[in-house]
Amino acid sequence: MQMSDPGKGPLWKAPTTDGAQHPLPDGAEDDDFCNALLAGLATIPKQVSCKFFYDAEGSALFDRICTLPEYYPTRVEFALLERHAAELAGLIGPDVELVEFGAGSGRKVRRLLDALQRPRAYVPVDISGEHLQQAAGRLRADYPRLEIRPVVADYTRAFDLPASLPGAQRRVGFFPGSTIGNFAPEEATGFLGMAAVLLEGGGLLIGVDLVKEPALLHAAYNDSAGVTAAFNKNLLARANRELGADFTDDGFAHYAFYQPLARRVEMHLVSLAAQRVRVAGREFRFAAGETLHTENSYKYTIDGFRSLAEQAGFVPRGYWIDAARLFSLHWLEVA
Ligand code: AVJ
Repeated sequence: MQMSDPGKGPLWKAPTTDGAQHPLPDGAEDDDFCNALLAGLATIPKQVSCKFFYDAEGSALFDRICTLPEYYPTRVEFALLERHAAELAGLIGPDVELVEFGAGSGRKVRRLLDALQRPRAYVPVDISGEHLQQAAGRLRADYPRLEIRPVVADYTRAFDLPASLPGAQRRVGFFPGSTIGNFAPEEATGFLGMAAVLLEGGGLLIGVDLVKEPALLHAAYNDSAGVTAAFNKNLLARANRELGADFTDDGFAHYAFYQPLARRVEMHLVSLAAQRVRVAGREFRFAAGETLHTENSYKYTIDGFRSLAEQAGFVPRGYWIDAARLFSLHWLEVA
């Protein structure tokens, strides 16, 4: 994992597991799983950033989540990209540098690259150098004329992009999957504000999950195959693997629910008994029923997201949704 440059403070706060409170001092919660977990277990309520889900095991589990019948976001967003590819390509324009926040599996960005006119460069930004190498390698083979310029950075903090290539018309950001939902709304505004600076003169294509019937949200985060539960509990397994922690698999349960007032799905790990756990040589107590809050996934209305984007310095130029109004894609231009 890459440490961010200490000379550059974060422009906005990293996603935390509780949008309402930031009990941890600036910087202390960032970057390092050990420090983050130790700090998060010492707060009330206990919490840890969802960015620590994505070790190799967690990333593989997330890929499985994306194929689950209940988990509509991946499927619906891909269908939207397919259906509107030509229109999107027209709005985005020719000769762009495409900057993806997070290196995905490559499936979505390929759909976009295939539709764009002479894309000049693909710039995946990811905290994991390994992910970047994989994403870059797969695309290089199939897009030999595309310049692939991976950037190792934690995009939840300030970072720089390489200078634009000669001949490139504009920079266009791509932020699919409703990953924006992991930020609390005020953090999302901060992130978008930073993106607007990086993408000056260009725009951002972003996938945003929508507010909907709670039962559908509940099912998406409580799949019948138990993959989301395994994804959540992998955080404890990762602590055991990397930090010599002694969490037991049957001592905690996956708990995910939609909180309509905050418009977010919360994921927690619930302690099934009063217990003590050791992490990196320190001991923490859980009361029976006490939770470790592991993720927030905010949902938006179309208008709510567009006004958030406007506050951050974008002009919303268009949006696309599926017939069931499950998921949205937005094209935002930098004001
Ligand atoms: C990748 C953050 C968009 O919030 O839906 C999936 C992560 N968590 N199932 C989401 C996730 C549980 C996902 N994001």
